[in-house]
Amino acid sequence: MCLAAYAGAASAAPAARPAGDPWWQHAVIYEIYLRSFQDSNADGVGDLNGITQRLDYLASLGVDAIWITPFFPSPQIDFGYDVADYEGVDPRFGTLADFDRLVAEARKRQIRVLVDLELNHTSDQHQWFQDAARSRRSLTHDLYVWSSGKPDAAGKRRPPNNWVSVFGGSAWEYVPAVEQFYYHRYFRQEPDLNWRNPKVERSMADVMRFWLDRGVAGFRLGAVTALVEDARLRDAAPLGGRNAQGDPNLSDTYTNNLPETHAVLRRLRKMLDHYPGEPVLIGETYVKSAAQLSAWYGGARHDELQLPMDTAFGFATRLDAREFRRRLTEASAELRGSQPLLLLDNHDHPRSWDRFGDGTHNTEIAKVLATLLCTSRAALLLYQGEEIGQSTSTPARVEDVRDPIGITGWPAEKGRDGERTPMQWDASAQAGFTASARPWLPVSPGYATTNVQAQRSESESLLNWYRQLIALRRGDEALRSGRLVMLDPANLRVLSYARVTPDGSGIIVSLNMSAQAQTVTLSTLAAGLAGTRFRTLLSSPGEFSVVAPGTRLTLPPYGAWVAAVE
Ligand code: GLC
Repeated sequence: MCLAAYAGAASAAPAARPAGDPWWQHAVIYEIYLRSFQDSNADGVGDLNGITQRLDYLASLGVDAIWITPFFPSPQIDFGYDVADYEGVDPRFGTLADFDRLVAEARKRQIRVLVDLELNHTSDQHQWFQDAARSRRSLTHDLYVWSSGKPDAAGKRRPPNNWVSVFGGSAWEYVPAVEQFYYHRYFRQEPDLNWRNPKVERSMADVMRFWLDRGVAGFRLGAVTALVEDARLRDAAPLGGRNAQGDPNLSDTYTNNLPETHAVLRRLRKMLDHYPGEPVLIGETYVKSAAQLSAWYGGARHDELQLPMDTAFGFATRLDAREFRRRLTEASAELRGSQPLLLLDNHDHPRSWDRFGDGTHNTEIAKVLATLLCTSRAALLLYQGEEIGQSTSTPARVEDVRDPIGITGWPAEKGRDGERTPMQWDASAQAGFTASARPWLPVSPGYATTNVQAQRSESESLLNWYRQLIALRRGDEALRSGRLVMLDPANLRVLSYARVTPDGSGIIVSLNMSAQAQTVTLSTLAAGLAGTRFRTLLSSPGEFSVVAPGTRLTLPPYGAWVAAVE
């Protein structure tokens, strides 16, 4: 059962944002993996003009903003996260004029554009590093993290400590010309910037102004918790065992979450706050708990990132009602009133379709998760293809792997190609992604049935489910800013909650996270809701029944139900 009234509402143009909260507070932000979204010039790689061509689609989905993965000049070792010039556009993705046109066209459709800034490191091809590695006397030498290392027993020069790169091997690389090692948290070709040097901060603030002046609405800051390292470069404590790259597991006390990084973010945020249009800082924040996440907002001061990602929420692997309830409750309790930023997918993780899917009920499960994202009290991130249930398509042979971590880590780590395959637009050759016969990554085999065009015309599709949810969220005060109150909190299989406005009106959501039908008893009174009758707004297909109106509800396996309380 999927209410026809909402199918109509979903295709309408997005409603204007209500006055009051900053735009990002309730935003639906759509991540575009540039290389794989839309190719406009038949070279097999997505580009900026390709995004412009697809803006109408994004507007029909109802997104408020797009985050575009890096388009800067880059050798593409890390597919753009290795930046060689922060103030340009790589010719394979277009030109600055293309970028300006994209921003202008997006604005016409009330879509903001966010730029992905990797502040932690540059490419080794960046002019700063090229000069830095030539001589210790270079003006840019101190923009990077250098050490002379230490001699081993045989007198041979060794790295200063045992730190390993997230992407495998020692985190230190020797440069004979300066007789020093440089630190790289990621690839060898991605030297870390030295954020203890104020010149780095000044340069990056200039970069941010450059893009803000071109009309961008903010930034996604990659690896932002790791900007600063221990000043004494102390050895990391071993934690026992080895990771997928075969390196020892080490404590990250000296390389991640250092207090100095918070001070940097406070200053960058202050600079941003002087810009009109409420620009936002989104953070790639892999932390273990809501309490740690709170620190990246600036705690009670709210003066660092407006939206650090709640990665622990979305990158869980089990569809577990208790676990999601716990995470949502923690976010309410521990973020000190800050807005959570929820997500299930990005370009660095196997897709939620496969992580949570059971092979039989994948669409129903994806609808449950979509409902959870769109009806929680949160801003949210969608990753391209998530809205149609694209699957992860990991290469079967190491020869086919493009992501370097899959090459060095094979077979324990097969890399991230699987979640980066081209967007599936239609059933034509290469899924409508490119006119080239050779896309940079192969289109996932499921594209003939799983694609935007097919799902547009299918009323019960995941795409239409997302469109309805997003439209509902835009139009409903309780869903945007109502309090979140857990219902039936001891239930092991069904996650139910209410979103309640100060005047006692609201919405009830019930999500069956199990393969069996479940009957729940929901007390509107306990939630502080004035009404006692439910009016279904949205429900996934299946035999729903509301027994004794307003109290008991039977949900089919992986059923999702959203209702207004009247
Ligand atoms: C960011 C990106 C990831 C990249 C890493 C290192 O975390 O999300 O794709 O590999 O930075 O540059």
